[in-house]
Amino acid sequence: MKVKNILIAGTVATTIWAAHAQAEITPRHALTGEVLDLSYAKKGGNTEAFRKFLETGKNPYNSDDAAIEEGHSLFLTGCSGCHGHEAEGKLGPGLADDYWTYPRGLTDQGLFEILFGGANGMMGPQYVNFNTDEMLRIMAWLRSIYQGDPKKAKWLK
Ligand code: HEC
Repeated sequence: MKVKNILIAGTVATTIWAAHAQAEITPRHALTGEVLDLSYAKKGGNTEAFRKFLETGKNPYNSDDAAIEEGHSLFLTGCSGCHGHEAEGKLGPGLADDYWTYPRGLTDQGLFEILFGGANGMMGPQYVNFNTDEMLRIMAWLRSIYQGDPKKAKWLK
């Protein structure tokens, strides 16, 4: 029985590793270009949606109303103090328009990279506060309130 359990655990671990190894995107830090170490991630974020995002570079929550709503409340707890309640900009820049200091933010991979790894000054790495699944939800809410030029919305392509 014990041996069987070990074998099962081994198979599960290999499967998880294999799923990880198939990841097609390599998230990099927005400033340094260094590969982001996802092992720093808060627990609970390695969901099916996040694994799909790693494979495709697209946020599966962009079309999920419940996830978007939750993303809004997460934004209000961790981001609005600096970015404004409607992400209109405050201490940090507005996030609903098409002007981006880091144009990579107009792709889902790039937006995730800015969130997970942070940028300059007050924009610290958000893995301290949110797990990766929560980041995808926040990102989906930001996309849902986008007011910029649709042609610049690279995540739609
Ligand atoms: C303590 C204040 C603070 C908090 C909290 C904060 N930010 Fe920021 N954020 C900033 C500042 C300041 C900048 C500008 C940094 C720069 O230009 O490098 C920034 C930049 C950004 C950018 C890049 C925008 C661009 O134009 O390229 C994104 C995206 C972003 N923040 C998203 C978020 C999200 C989402 C959260 C919550 C999970 C968050 N931030 C939390 C202060 C903050």
